[in-house]
Amino acid sequence: MQNTLKKPTLALTIAGSIFFAACNQSAPKSTIMRDSTSTKTTALPAATGFEQTIDGKKTELYVLKNKSGAEAAITNYGAHLVSLLVPDKNGKLTDVILGFDDIAGFQKAGGAYYGATIGRYGNRLAKAKFILDGKEYKLFANNGPNTLHGGKKGFDSMVWDAKQIDSSSIELTYLSKDMEEGFPGNLKVKVVYTLTDDNAVKITYEASTDKKTVVNLTNHSYFNLNGQGSGTALNHVVQIDADGYTPVDSILIPTGKIEPVKGTPFDFTTATAIGARIETANEQLKFGKGYDHNFVLKKHDISTPIANAVGDKSGIKLEVFTEEPGLQFYTGNFMNGSNTLKGGAKDEHRTAFAMETQHYPDSPNQPSFPSTMLKPGAVYKTVTIYKFSK
Ligand code: BGC
Repeated sequence: MQNTLKKPTLALTIAGSIFFAACNQSAPKSTIMRDSTSTKTTALPAATGFEQTIDGKKTELYVLKNKSGAEAAITNYGAHLVSLLVPDKNGKLTDVILGFDDIAGFQKAGGAYYGATIGRYGNRLAKAKFILDGKEYKLFANNGPNTLHGGKKGFDSMVWDAKQIDSSSIELTYLSKDMEEGFPGNLKVKVVYTLTDDNAVKITYEASTDKKTVVNLTNHSYFNLNGQGSGTALNHVVQIDADGYTPVDSILIPTGKIEPVKGTPFDFTTATAIGARIETANEQLKFGKGYDHNFVLKKHDISTPIANAVGDKSGIKLEVFTEEPGLQFYTGNFMNGSNTLKGGAKDEHRTAFAMETQHYPDSPNQPSFPSTMLKPGAVYKTVTIYKFSK
């Protein structure tokens, strides 16, 4: 069963319109078309592929719609964003997110984290441990000697409780118990996805704990703005408002330094094709097998985009807004065609990229990085928006 409700609440509608008043470019519904002639997916997956019982809880596919004709599909399995249909330059609905037609697909490709909500700690924690108040917490090493994206069974593999708020908004909650995956504190997590009328996906993250802990939540969507299944992402043109990035060692742990991007292939302060410099002889690109680095964003707030990307064929532009200090720009370097995506396309090498808004990787082990500590009584709250226009 696909869950859709009919009426957005007034409060959400008003909040959405105030928020996006400055940049509203919604397409009239009448211009939306579905192209059924190409290999690209142009409709949301069937709900049946998502109707299961996992860990004793029901999983489903939830559908969000906006007044401009865009559609998104979300499952409470791992709070994944499964599909996102937005109009291209010709008004054709284009699925710009990589994903699968069923939960089995997401499970098989678990290590790629397509569209997943990542927690308790996004990206790597060196040597699968961290120290908090002098006490060492041991984690599961699922990425060589390190912990990646929460460990053996991160938030991406948990069944969340879902409550569809209205036709364009869904709330997902999860209780990560004290010492789950080695992290201290019962952490109550809430993620709200809203598909706004100006074709943005707004993601609000909230968390609170009963013991001091570390938290770094993000969304791990892979974008191909030409449409999932339409080949290389290397011709997408990208711009990132970052003067610095955090270089890594050979197993992708930050060295602790912040290096200037100027004069390096990491300078995306002016719009540049992803592929323009990706094969440059550069130690950091060698370590990442391409771009797989945290960009240190210039001072910003949620009202101004910190990064954008444009699909060379579709003309679809993605703008990223966030309250987070960092952006992990990952160019699908580990993609290798071993998974069959929605509609039958393979997840070939570098056919998508991720822009994961976050605190810096390994922050709990890096005293000079902004803190990811959360104390009892405090509320972790952060907003990221992926906005699409043409
Ligand atoms: C990491 C990559 C990793 C990818 C998929 C990214 O966030 O930085 O190193 O391969 O997620 O797991």
